[in-house]
Amino acid sequence: MKKIKDVEKYIQENKSRLNLQYRLKYHLMGEYGWINDPNGFIYYKDNYHLFYQHNPYDAVWGPMHWGHAISKDLVKWNYLPIALVPGDDFDKDGCFSGSAIEKDNMLYLFYTGHIYTGPDRSKDYKQVQNLAYSKDGIYFIKYSKNPVIGEKQIPEEASKKDFRDPKVFKKGQYHYMLLGSNDGKGHGQILLYKSIDLKKWNFVDILARGNEKTGKNWECPDLFDLEDRQVLMVSAEYIKTRENDFYSTHSSIYFIGDLDIDRGIFNFDVDGYQLIDYGFDFYAPQTTNDKLGRRLMVAWMDMWGESKPTQERGHNWAGAMTLPREILLVNGKLYFRPIKEIENYRKNHYKLVNLEIDGEKNINTYGDCYELEVEFEGCKAEEFGLKIRKGDNEETILSYKRYESLFIFDRNKSGIGPKGQRKINVDLKNNKLKLRIFVDVSSVEIFINDGEKVMSGRIYPSKDSVNISVYSKGKCKINYLNKWDIVVD
Ligand code: FRU
Repeated sequence: MKKIKDVEKYIQENKSRLNLQYRLKYHLMGEYGWINDPNGFIYYKDNYHLFYQHNPYDAVWGPMHWGHAISKDLVKWNYLPIALVPGDDFDKDGCFSGSAIEKDNMLYLFYTGHIYTGPDRSKDYKQVQNLAYSKDGIYFIKYSKNPVIGEKQIPEEASKKDFRDPKVFKKGQYHYMLLGSNDGKGHGQILLYKSIDLKKWNFVDILARGNEKTGKNWECPDLFDLEDRQVLMVSAEYIKTRENDFYSTHSSIYFIGDLDIDRGIFNFDVDGYQLIDYGFDFYAPQTTNDKLGRRLMVAWMDMWGESKPTQERGHNWAGAMTLPREILLVNGKLYFRPIKEIENYRKNHYKLVNLEIDGEKNINTYGDCYELEVEFEGCKAEEFGLKIRKGDNEETILSYKRYESLFIFDRNKSGIGPKGQRKINVDLKNNKLKLRIFVDVSSVEIFINDGEKVMSGRIYPSKDSVNISVYSKGKCKINYLNKWDIVVD
């Protein structure tokens, strides 16, 4: 408890040192310092809880704590005290990612203890699985017999080091735990463990194995039912590039298959993987279900290995979460939609209908924190789209190239920070393209054709780059365009 008080004191004393320029207004960030993966996402006792990988002392990755926030509606978050502080023998150098589960009204957190074993921190480490529990969902007690799964329980065919990110779920009378791992030969894989009481765990089998195309190591696994199928999500390190996608060094992917829980095997086509998000900044998604029966997902809206302006420029914070998304299964593919609660925060409606364009046209509204919904139709134009966060020499271009059936998110002129383009194949539906775009100071999330594809990315334009234009090369029509400021007070 003292340790938690010390961290809290540090955060409260330093919060005024945050530079707010790029802070987002309706996405969750850390209160101070660095964050990465979402952890322990759960609906528990009338609140959504979201924990996250957190270094509260600095805007760089470091000794991982679990930060903690709660929300009634997944939009407005309140910070709670830090939930886990590293430093015990079984989590000496970090409380790495994990998940939460409710049992008998108590909240249980499962997380990976990271422990350095020598001077080379990139190689000399081990990982074990730990448990912490709470009666109030605020203060957590680490289990006295941690770790609940140690090195000795790592099976033969698995890496002895990369063994992390427990995702726990219940099926029948058993609890199951997935762990991210690899086979020691450069292929990601998922291990499955089983328990009755959440304390004693037994290895079941290797639930899923990747191949040479699907990354060298799998992190942050998740597995859930959707309709009558199961979905396996993994964050794949060093996944190979495929045409038009997988440009990021690491990417989060999904497989749809069928879980044979008695044998502990997930039956799936390893080559049938899909990207969850086709943008620049999306990693380590975690899902949960809620009392409305929804399957909800949140991810870290940043990427390893990319430059982070708020870190480099001394803003004393780095990292943000995506907007929570609902996952649906439609014709064998996942669709991702922004949670409907966000619509409660719409203000200042701006509307356009039946606008013919041929060239570029500024529209009569602007902003850096809004939702924009637009439908293009019947365009003969070879290319059409939108330019957002426009200002002197700055713009972020969202375009559609008709003859290549490509949607492109271009941040080459977005401002400071990392650049590049992301492209994805999208077919027009009845000659229409529908976009829902969420802009929040230093982020853009684009939901294409009702969530068939999603692209997320961070951008760092100057404050004055707030204009919006629509454009086409050739004749094109906009059926409607709605824009609302998103205001969370
Ligand atoms: C994924 C990850 C996890 C690990 C955590 C450490 O982004 O590498 O595998 O638990 O970050 O912060």
